[in-house]
Amino acid sequence: MITLFLIALLVSPIPLSFADPDPLQDFCIADLDAQPSLNGFPCKPASNVTSDDFFFDGLSKEGSTGNIFGSNVTAANVLAFPGLNTLGLSMNRVDFAPGAVNPPHIHPRSTELVLVVKGKLLVGFVTTGFVYHSKVVTAGEIFVIPRGLVHFQKNVGKGKALSFTAFDSQLPGVVILPLTLFGSTPPIPNDVLTKGFQVDEDVVKAIKSKFGN
Ligand SMILES: *[C@@H]1O[C@H](CO)[C@@H](O)[C@H](O)[C@H]1NC(C)=O
Ligand SMILES: *[C@@H]1O[C@H](CO)[C@@H](O)[C@H](O)[C@H]1NC(C)=O
Repeated sequence: MITLFLIALLVSPIPLSFADPDPLQDFCIADLDAQPSLNGFPCKPASNVTSDDFFFDGLSKEGSTGNIFGSNVTAANVLAFPGLNTLGLSMNRVDFAPGAVNPPHIHPRSTELVLVVKGKLLVGFVTTGFVYHSKVVTAGEIFVIPRGLVHFQKNVGKGKALSFTAFDSQLPGVVILPLTLFGSTPPIPNDVLTKGFQVDEDVVKAIKSKFGN
């Protein structure tokens, strides 16, 4: 009798009443064609969702480092990977040629965790009180950059370096300082930059010329 009861229990399906009454709350795959709001993108219809919406292979490919900085950031944010919508996290892959730098920049909406997978990176940030913190980080080690602070990475190893960075935002945003200050459209007036950086105008012009201004 008891055996029969146990068998019945094993074969009976889980009653529907155990399911979440609103499975839509599980996720909200971004409909990238729809108008986003501050909270993210509207969800695409549940009937359109497939397993591929939770998968992204864009970080498996090495980015091309043939640029002035020698580094390349491949982003897996909500715009590239719509499955991250409303989940509050994302990742980047950053490839470094020997001697490369990921120049001083800020993520306005996110803290960053840097995981070095290959090579040796000098990772540094400056606090709002002008204190510089840095560390040489090697494979398997992680370093955290608190939200909104100016930071950089430099390849200080002999060969290439590779890191993956995690963010507590689906779209952390980035303010790349050299491009922001010297490569904006229209440009920031020279006298703002000469006074701000306490240098002559030819220095400002020389830097601007490197960033298309
Ligand atoms: C949902 O799928 C239908 C049918 O394939 C398609 O016409 C529609 O564009 C899709 N909508 C979104 C937001 O993906
Ligand atoms: C990064 O790498 C990708 C893929 O090779 C390339 O399309 C892109 O232009 C590179 N970006 C920079 C800034 O070099």
